Amino acid sequence: MMWGMDLFRSITEPIDSELSRFKEHFSSLLDTDDANLAVLLDCLKARNGKMLRPVLALLIGKYYGFPSDSIYNVAVSLELLHTASLIHDDVVDNSMLRRGNASFNAIFDNKMSILFGDYVVGMSLEEMAKTGDGNVSILSGISKTLSSGEIAQLSVRSSLELSEDSYFDIISRKTACLFSNVAYLAARVSGATESEALSFSGFGRMSGLCFQIRDDIFDYLPTECLGKPSGIDMREGKITLPAIYALNASGLDWSDTVRDIRGCVATDEQIKAVTEYTIGHGGIRYAESRMQEFASQALEFLPGDMPDTLRRAFSDYIDLVISRER
Ligand code: IPE
Ligand code: IPE
Ligand code: MG
Ligand code: MG
Repeated sequence: MMWGMDLFRSITEPIDSELSRFKEHFSSLLDTDDANLAVLLDCLKARNGKMLRPVLALLIGKYYGFPSDSIYNVAVSLELLHTASLIHDDVVDNSMLRRGNASFNAIFDNKMSILFGDYVVGMSLEEMAKTGDGNVSILSGISKTLSSGEIAQLSVRSSLELSEDSYFDIISRKTACLFSNVAYLAARVSGATESEALSFSGFGRMSGLCFQIRDDIFDYLPTECLGKPSGIDMREGKITLPAIYALNASGLDWSDTVRDIRGCVATDEQIKAVTEYTIGHGGIRYAESRMQEFASQALEFLPGDMPDTLRRAFSDYIDLVISRER
């Protein structure tokens, strides 16, 4: 089992043909006559992500019986926005590995990655525009919130404060906002009422919080099947939930270490000390328990009349998000 492949299969079984159609649509957008762009777009084509956001959109489409093809535009547009955010994120995080391959900034360079990320944002906007101006305005909001989360994460580096509130504010913006709007827009273009769409968006938000907490736990673990580096968050000035919890609960004064980590001048010994203290003092277990809490809340957002087989797929979805191994 690579990362819960069985779980992934059971989630996507009800949307098998729709997921194939999504993939074809996504891939067809990556063809171009422009030779310079072709080099970059071919690279993107050769390294798909897990597509967990489109899968969520399609599960919601399934609940409504897929009344509209706009669901594909929404799913493609938001997967493109996500992709652009990763291209830029790897520049910001100075990260050389993505999806099991060299990142764009490693293959090309930072300049090319910034420009190509912008191009992919343009593709995302173009795709969303096919579904109406109102949705483009929602997409603009998502894009602003996501960037503001990444900016807040960089800005917190000048602070000594270690607060869960600030951590949750950052991950709500940089990750959960996209998941919640994937669900909201998928429901809206499928004919949901505003209140149904907001419920699905609650499911998406909880999934997104779990998603980022799981991602942050990865950073404490060996890197093997992850397809991206681990052990780099503290190197890049990021202190995430496991350590925030463990250091706060310790009653010790970590301020010098926190300042050095956030200032990106921590030594290997300092980072090792925080990592070992966090693992040894229940930081990972605490983060896992928070994910469980959000996962139970996610299920409460599902409509009461959802058929059992589909409910099972949504519940497997959240299980996959919290137990995934990549
Ligand atoms: C990675 O997202 C970035 C985070 C929000 C943590 P994914 O793990 O969904 O990335 P891909 O698309 O599958 O590579
Ligand atoms: C991912 O953030 C990018 C966004 C959510 C915008 P991270 O930096 O935490 O994720 P990885 O570990 O690089 O995928
Ligand atoms: Mg990163
Ligand atoms: Mg990460």
